[in-house]
Amino acid sequence: MSTRPQVLLVSLGGTIAGVPDERGRNAPAKTAADLLSSTPGAEDLAEVRVADVRQMPSRAISPPDMHALAREIREGVREGCEGVVVTHGTDTMEETAYALALMLDIGVPVALTGAMRPGHVPGSDGPANLLAALRVAATREAAALGPVVVMHDEVHAARWVTKAHTSRVAAFASPSFGPVGTVLEGRVRLHVDSVRSEFLGVPDELSGRVELVWVSAGADGALVDATAALADGLVIAGTGGGHVPPAMAESLQKAVEGGLPVVLASRCAGGPVLEETYGGVGSESHLRSIGLVPAGTLGPLKARLRLMVALAVGEDPVEAFSE
Ligand code: SIN
Repeated sequence: MSTRPQVLLVSLGGTIAGVPDERGRNAPAKTAADLLSSTPGAEDLAEVRVADVRQMPSRAISPPDMHALAREIREGVREGCEGVVVTHGTDTMEETAYALALMLDIGVPVALTGAMRPGHVPGSDGPANLLAALRVAATREAAALGPVVVMHDEVHAARWVTKAHTSRVAAFASPSFGPVGTVLEGRVRLHVDSVRSEFLGVPDELSGRVELVWVSAGADGALVDATAALADGLVIAGTGGGHVPPAMAESLQKAVEGGLPVVLASRCAGGPVLEETYGGVGSESHLRSIGLVPAGTLGPLKARLRLMVALAVGEDPVEAFSE
């Protein structure tokens, strides 16, 4: 009997699965089995079961796709998989990782990985990233970290990880926090025993419309008004500690009074939304007083997914964002 753990390898496309066209431009085409066969040593680590869910650039991945992926993973675990690797484009990997953290409570390691360099160029990082992700997925203790991103021999928690560079191999970072582990000399070294659970529940579907408005200097309420007319929820990426220009504040108040859940995050790369440092129209204390829900330390992209899942499972947004 095999003593290797059973790992489910789910492929969704991205650069790691890319094949160049006649002009050398990369598009996803490789299957999970292709990726496995071009990763020497993979089969020694785990008994790998492959599943090809999508073949797409990650810019095309949507919350319903993330929901379908969560279901696929749950099913794989029900059937006996002890770890999961998801290969994914790097552009939106942080969003899929966090969406999985919101919807999975499966007790097995889940590692997302991809590649910054296509497979046909020198120094392609796909095979090394896949091998490292398989090592993490085969490490039982990694389950306590929730879904993680494994890139460039670093392990990043879903809540904190972000793609911080467009093209370097070391593209991923966890601002304010740092990686929760590394993969070195063929060994997974975890720096923490666990991270707090982000799990909210498993919705029947994830099709609600939650929009994100990024605040820039001088912005007025036009985008908020337009969004409030069509969205089920709104996240504001405010300046600094969670602020908006005074000209935007009235539209936000109207949106909240009209019943729209509005979450306040910061466009800064790190740090929490403030509570009572600043006063006046558009300050964090004013926005809280008119009913915006503070996102705490959660960045805007992930706050959007959290609000989306909270609405889909019927959780009160205030509860969903309490830290
Ligand atoms: C994508 O996200 O699909 C393109 C970039 C990448 O995979 O690294």
